[in-house]
Amino acid sequence: MTQPLTILGIESSCDDTAAAVVRETADGAAILSSIVEGQSTLHADFGGVVPEIAARAHAERLDHCVEAALAEAKVTLADIDAIAVTAGPGLIGGVVSGVMCAKGLAAATGKPLIGVNHLAGHALTPRLTDAIAYPYLMLLVSGGHCQFLIVRGADDFSRIGGSIDDAPGEAFDKTARLIGLPQPGGPHVERAADAGDATAIPLPRPLMDRPGCDMSFSGLKTALLRARDAVLVDGALRAQDQADLAASFQRAVRDILVGKSRRALDIYLSKAPVTPTFAVAGGVAANQSIRGGLQDLCSELSCTFTAPPLALCTDNAAMIAYVGIERFRLGMFDDMTLSARPRWPLDTTAQPMLGHGKKGAKA
Ligand code: KG4
Ligand code: ZN
Repeated sequence: MTQPLTILGIESSCDDTAAAVVRETADGAAILSSIVEGQSTLHADFGGVVPEIAARAHAERLDHCVEAALAEAKVTLADIDAIAVTAGPGLIGGVVSGVMCAKGLAAATGKPLIGVNHLAGHALTPRLTDAIAYPYLMLLVSGGHCQFLIVRGADDFSRIGGSIDDAPGEAFDKTARLIGLPQPGGPHVERAADAGDATAIPLPRPLMDRPGCDMSFSGLKTALLRARDAVLVDGALRAQDQADLAASFQRAVRDILVGKSRRALDIYLSKAPVTPTFAVAGGVAANQSIRGGLQDLCSELSCTFTAPPLALCTDNAAMIAYVGIERFRLGMFDDMTLSARPRWPLDTTAQPMLGHGKKGAKA
């Protein structure tokens, strides 16, 4: 291999300010540092991410995150080969903060600048963590996105289906709000579900009778609201009912994701890859029940299954630095005209998704 690359990554597209240093290795890459400063306490009183608060916090914290990432990796800017930064999609104020920071570093050091699609960061995470080869089928499930992608290269994605409304992470967050749990909802709903009966509350599995692998999650929250109201006692939710609601919701999301993954794998396998690999990524991939369901499906269909370690499911800058390595190797650099994009679909040939997610307009 030529001299291994060392890339600084910067991520600020939602409510995590992050910086990381990733170094190329003979068979993939190694994370030298990954700093993530979450903002959940700043948004706690508002029941969701407030874009203006997020943008200000990113602007205040980015320099510190970059310094911490360099220090933990025991490198200086002189050791860095390029600066990779999330340039979209996401909440525009935060993305602008990250892009400005990266441009400043690139201008000051003369190092190349690489604009990275946040979704590509999630989609290439299995190459960072497990060095899997192209092509593979990816289920990207996060707070703002839900799509099945055939990943053929660092800049070669085909979307074969996805949510037509809410993303599953959004649905977890709304469910948490409805049953009195804090944000971000996913991990709290998962914990509450441990003590619940997943068959206690009947909830719909929308679009399951339709062909293809599009999904819908918005009907779940209406059904959950009704189910919650039906079990309230003097306006309060008993702990067992809260647990049953959480478990039933989580089971419904798992059934939808696993059922539609089966369809997506059918489509993918019909194109006959020699060694089929199915990978899941994004915040919702941290959910053990959903990971377990997808793992079982892949065992049944004799596909290799990969899911990132929990810290690399949710937003981080290591995944952005890693995409930076691949884009560097492809000669894909940006200049000072790099701009922040609220919308940036990975597959520009696919129909655009409608609506607005937690991170703003959907890609
Ligand atoms: O990928 P991510 O950090 O940000 C986006 O790009 O959206 O995903 C955050 C989302 C949140 O909606 C959060 O509730 C959800 O991922 N999440 C989970 C879990 N951990 C995080 N959902 C279900 N179970 C979890 N354990
Ligand atoms: Zn994300």
